[in-house]
Amino acid sequence: MSDFILETERLLLRRITHNDLDDLLQIWGDAETMSLFPKTLNRQEMAEWIDRNLKRYEDFGHGIWAVILKDGQQFVGDCGLVIQDVEDVQEVEVGYHFNKKFWGLGLAAEAARGCMEYASTTLNRRRIISMIRPENLASRRVAERNGLKIEKEVFWRGYQHYVYVIEKR
Ligand SMILES: CC(C)(COP(=O)(O)OP(=O)(O)OC[C@H]1O[C@@H](n2cnc3c(N)ncnc32)[C@H](O)[C@@H]1OP(=O)(O)O)[C@@H](O)C(=O)NCCC(=O)NCCS
Repeated sequence: MSDFILETERLLLRRITHNDLDDLLQIWGDAETMSLFPKTLNRQEMAEWIDRNLKRYEDFGHGIWAVILKDGQQFVGDCGLVIQDVEDVQEVEVGYHFNKKFWGLGLAAEAARGCMEYASTTLNRRRIISMIRPENLASRRVAERNGLKIEKEVFWRGYQHYVYVIEKR
């Protein structure tokens, strides 16, 4: 277990490495999966994305992690906690991207719940957000199932986004 950051019922989350490049490209290089993102990533851009994550681990101790299915040990997606600047406030965002072969199984919601738990217990963060485009119904459903609520709508990185928020009292 020591290589893993956190565990949920069906999933293990660990740090991403450059060995994950092919698995990540199946997600980030796929036009359908990335239809609500500005573009798909090629190998070079994916490698740079991994580098940015490795830097996040160094700078903050967290970032986007690899999500591994316990049953079969497959790489099914990425999910994690990223510091985002939203209207000049530094927020902790839970984000997720899954291989479409594994959509609809509740895995993104489960991974996001694990990350939210980690943010509150290990990082001591009371407020977690998710930046979600209104059209992204699957992602909104994941957020809503986990208790996040729309706080406001902002123009962010070229698109309208809902700021979904959960705050622990
Ligand atoms: C968002 C994403 C991670 C969800 O992954 P997932 O593992 O299928 O998520 P879950 O199974 O936990 O839940 C998905 C929910 O959305 C619902 N859903 C899926 N597509 C939908 C659609 N087009 N309209 C409405 N609801 C939809 C599912 O029915 C499910 O809800 P339910 O649990 O109430 O049945 C996946 O669609 C993905 O990787 N998308 C591309 C990347 C992305 O957009 N990331 C989020 C950026 S904000």
